Amino acid sequence: MDPLLQWRSEFPILDHTVYMISHSLGAMPRRTRDRLNEYADTWATRGIRAWEEGWWQMPITVGNLIGTIIGAGEGEVVMHQNVAVCQQIVHSCFNWSSKRNKIVSEAMNFPSNLYAFEQLKQLGARVDLVPSADGISIPLERMLRAIDEETALVSVSHVLFRSSFIQDIAALTRRAHECGALICADLYQSAGTVPVDVRAVGLDFATGGSVKWLCGGPGAGYLYVRRDRWVTLEPRFTGWMAHARPFAFADAPIEFADDAYRFLNGTPNVPAMYAARSGYEIVNEIGVDRIRQKSTRQTRRLIELAREAGLRVNSPERDEDRGGTVILDVAEGYEIVKKLAARDYLMDFRPGAGIRIAPHFYTTDEELDSTIQAIRAQTEVGVHQPAS
Ligand SMILES: Cc1ncc(COP(=O)(O)O)c(C=O)c1O
Repeated sequence: MDPLLQWRSEFPILDHTVYMISHSLGAMPRRTRDRLNEYADTWATRGIRAWEEGWWQMPITVGNLIGTIIGAGEGEVVMHQNVAVCQQIVHSCFNWSSKRNKIVSEAMNFPSNLYAFEQLKQLGARVDLVPSADGISIPLERMLRAIDEETALVSVSHVLFRSSFIQDIAALTRRAHECGALICADLYQSAGTVPVDVRAVGLDFATGGSVKWLCGGPGAGYLYVRRDRWVTLEPRFTGWMAHARPFAFADAPIEFADDAYRFLNGTPNVPAMYAARSGYEIVNEIGVDRIRQKSTRQTRRLIELAREAGLRVNSPERDEDRGGTVILDVAEGYEIVKKLAARDYLMDFRPGAGIRIAPHFYTTDEELDSTIQAIRAQTEVGVHQPAS
């Protein structure tokens, strides 16, 4: 008996849905509804006093629940709305018109990160994107060679969203630091399913969000900044919450807080943080190592089943290279995903990759079989005919 299956009753959607889409939107924990009620009750009964009774501290107190998942220390993670915002804060800490003005990343990074790099060219940044040879992996050697004395920032996805390939962030961090560059890892597709220890790796920055493996829902992104870098970093993307004495409402220029508040800006997304907490608590309670153990076994099994069904796999073969998602290159994948959603099998499709399937700690082995059978049945009948 798989002990993690005891968590199934905590996720109402699992009663009637084969939920294979936790790389995109993790299932909602039952207790999230209570948390949202708590938010409404607090606002309704405490009014403005809620700020000093907990809301003001939430970007840090909730960030601490992420910290224990990604290996950060107390007070080292601050909550924001999403990864796009967190990445902008990181970028705004650098002078892109200096000689050290290069960003190194992978061409398969998440599009909004790539869009942001491209925009930085207007400020003088040079962007070096290492391509993939096979559409699945990024050659580590090429990444390491791209990092040089003119690199200001290495900014990578820990796990690639399109193929689930795991990048070696420890090797990239060593190289970045050898060259005097800083490194930021986007942990969105790893935190909660692949173990990460930001302090052991020595990352300077990490960003991520709650929508996927952390089962925290939308509106709660997070930013980690290595403690000994704080005093050297003065984000241009800032606001009154980052001031050493925000309630002095002092004139510019800002005097930055000497703690992680210096990486905040405006009013935080309080309801999203209430909603997100329960997912973090559950992931902490189970432990990412146990989630990873199960995920590795189940993704391996999915690959075997897919091969037996004659379906082409578009994610890494070796367990140690593969995150929590398996991607199947199936003709008419988009239509198949839509048809299966109507039958309560949830997964998604990404152009250039295929059908993305993600078991999580709450997935049964039977669901792996039935998912592959359902996809195979669709490829056999053809998506334009009704499925039997
Ligand atoms: C690796 C990665 N980074 C960033 C994002 C988007 O982040 P956000 O919508 O919080 O900006 C996603 C997925 O949506 C992702 O998979």
